[in-house]
Amino acid sequence: MIEIKNVSVSYVKGIKVIDNISFTVDDGTVFGFIGPNGAGKTTTIEMITGILDIDDGDILIDGKSIKDNPIAAKKQFGFVPDTPDVFEKLTGLEYLNFIGDVYEIPEETRLKKVLKLSEFFSISDVLKDRIESYSHGMRQKLLIISVLLHNPKNWILDEPMTGLDPKASYTLKKLMREHANQGNTVFFSTHVLEVAEKICDKIAVIDKGKIIFVGTCEELKEKYKSNTSLEESFLKIIEG
Ligand SMILES: Nc1ncnc2c1ncn2[C@@H]1O[C@H](COP(=O)(O)OP(=O)(O)O)[C@@H](O)[C@H]1O
Ligand SMILES: [Mg+2]
Repeated sequence: MIEIKNVSVSYVKGIKVIDNISFTVDDGTVFGFIGPNGAGKTTTIEMITGILDIDDGDILIDGKSIKDNPIAAKKQFGFVPDTPDVFEKLTGLEYLNFIGDVYEIPEETRLKKVLKLSEFFSISDVLKDRIESYSHGMRQKLLIISVLLHNPKNWILDEPMTGLDPKASYTLKKLMREHANQGNTVFFSTHVLEVAEKICDKIAVIDKGKIIFVGTCEELKEKYKSNTSLEESFLKIIEG
């Protein structure tokens, strides 16, 4: 569970990029964080994951505050950033082993899992190459695998489908659904509405740093009297 409570932040003093936002991502749900470019999705995710300090408010991950108890909070989630730039001089396998060490994954189960997941995401044949030679999509796959490796209760993904090929994107969506169905939390940002409509149990819409809607896709469509598509409701809501 992820609880965002009255959170604000500014990059430049006096100009709030995120302005007093609150919502809760419940266990057992795939939760989409939707908004146009520059709305504040990545900034919010950076606060949830402790990369960016919160000015006001607090964020709790399974009850642990990212402000007051950052190590405990960070143990509760796995994170795939939108810029998957990790230790480029390591090979993919070295990186996954490093993650395995950090999260103390036993070596026998670790290798089995690494092999299975790399097969799943079709990157087995590059595991021994350095990450610097990977494409954006391959790096993203590696990071997704690293999260699946330690399999935290809460998954946090920033624009995860961008850069993935259709098979990987399909596989990831399936895994997200399964993870939520097991009572876990999947929180991801997207500006692609079709994805949100297909897989989210609930969404929050952010625009210009403010939350303007929280609910199901159906509720959004109902609210904006659009029986055709989420896209139509979305455009209505953004245009005010
Ligand atoms: N490091 C930064 N310094 C100053 N402004 C930033 C920085 N990062 C993002 N912003 C601004 O904050 C706003 C939200 O950006 P972001 O959270 O990246 O949006 P999104 O992920 O929804 O596209 C944008 O106006 C962006 O220009
Ligand atoms: Mg972003």
